[in-house]
Amino acid sequence: MILSVDQGTTGTTAFVFDSQGRLLGRSYSEFPQYYPRPGWVEHNASEIWQVTLRVCVAALERAGLEPSQLSAVGITNQRETTVLWDRESGEPVCPAIVWQCRRSADICRELEQAGRADWLRDKTGLVLDAYFSASKLQWLFRDDPGLLERARAGELAFGTIDSWLIWKMTGGRAHLTDHTNASRTLLYSLERRDWDPELLELFGCPAAILPEIRPSAGHFANTDAKSFLGAEVPITGVAGDQQASLFGHGCTVAGEIKNTYGTGCFMLAYAGEDRPPAPTGLLTTIACDAGGGPAYALEGAVFNAGAAVQWLRDDMGLIQQAADTESIARQVPDTRGVYLVPAFSGLGAPHWDPSARGMICGLSRGTGRDELVRATLESIAYQSDDLARLMADALGVQITRLRVDGGAAANDFLMQFQSDISNARVERPRQIESTAVGAALLAGIGAGIWEAGKLPKSLLEIERDFVPQMTASKREELLEGWRRAVSACRTF
Ligand code: G3P
Repeated sequence: MILSVDQGTTGTTAFVFDSQGRLLGRSYSEFPQYYPRPGWVEHNASEIWQVTLRVCVAALERAGLEPSQLSAVGITNQRETTVLWDRESGEPVCPAIVWQCRRSADICRELEQAGRADWLRDKTGLVLDAYFSASKLQWLFRDDPGLLERARAGELAFGTIDSWLIWKMTGGRAHLTDHTNASRTLLYSLERRDWDPELLELFGCPAAILPEIRPSAGHFANTDAKSFLGAEVPITGVAGDQQASLFGHGCTVAGEIKNTYGTGCFMLAYAGEDRPPAPTGLLTTIACDAGGGPAYALEGAVFNAGAAVQWLRDDMGLIQQAADTESIARQVPDTRGVYLVPAFSGLGAPHWDPSARGMICGLSRGTGRDELVRATLESIAYQSDDLARLMADALGVQITRLRVDGGAAANDFLMQFQSDISNARVERPRQIESTAVGAALLAGIGAGIWEAGKLPKSLLEIERDFVPQMTASKREELLEGWRRAVSACRTF
């Protein structure tokens, strides 16, 4: 039995799988989000721990299992979120700064002005942005110099959420992370595959606070019975959530792509052992190492996907609930030439234009709600397609398959349109929680329950695949319209 813990930005879910890959029990709970100032986002790491503990107990109860029956624990987590805690008490010394938090944007601007952006991109594969952990840490040390002193004295520990959970589950005996999480901090060199002294110096980060980095599958540590569930269970799989989902989709050949349709979309392409070129707006990151050695992935984001549907619902009042979009979009044969570009916060890759703004174009007297709703769904597919093409070009492959998960992957209209516009098979797995599946697979491999090449079919089974039905000329016509709409919203 494997316990897979998915610690996400707004909630934690625990899953119990058996060795055949069957789901025996699950439990989910949200936890509070704190927005102390505009642009700031915080979590309370103790609350995250409490909620995680609670859902693990509940998932085991639902599975009708005792904790002692578990063979392995897998952890996957929201990435970049920065936790700093006291090694002695095991308690956080400040709020956890969430990946979405913009408070350290000025630090990034300073470094940008000092001409460090290209150097950082080359070393880390990331862009110089407040999204990643390093500037968040530096902000904490500037804000409270006492913390820096304590960090230098070895009294404090830093970690992303994986490290924090491992620390708590082991009763403070293990301070560890994995390569996928480390690669999101801006403190990790892709070449050295380790923490980098020059990066630590640049961000004023004492080496004494860092966790040790391990491959994603393997023995991390045993849980401490007093601290976690009353049983000693090996933690054998750890990965950041997007990389776990890439692995959970079975993407292990260069060019295989997964797309998670959430508020935004997180798209990752497995890139193999050699570091790929990363076009502007794409990140290079570390993919899960399940024993085959470290590998790379390309990552890109669609900023507004489900967010555009929320906008239709909450601000425009055009729909009652997100799920209505599917039937509404089907009521019309097409959008009658309408395009909606949801560039609410600028455009991401491949256009990379922060000053672009959203636009609806091609309106005629016959345009109604149905066309606008359909155009909104289509915009999610067009934006995802832009990213997928960029990734495929960078990797020198054709997109033939796209694996999907996330809330909007349940929308059959959107999936069919994605398939049509990308001219690719869109595969939706039966077990749609690909992130948790990835963590379970890593833990199972790490515990020796499964072998990398012989994973349980039930976890990788496809529930439905969508095959392209659109003619090439129709696709080209629609894509041409999309390109014109995008360029209009850049010059507005
Ligand atoms: O990089 C942030 C990402 O890991 C968060 O994912 O699913 O918790 O919002 P999620």
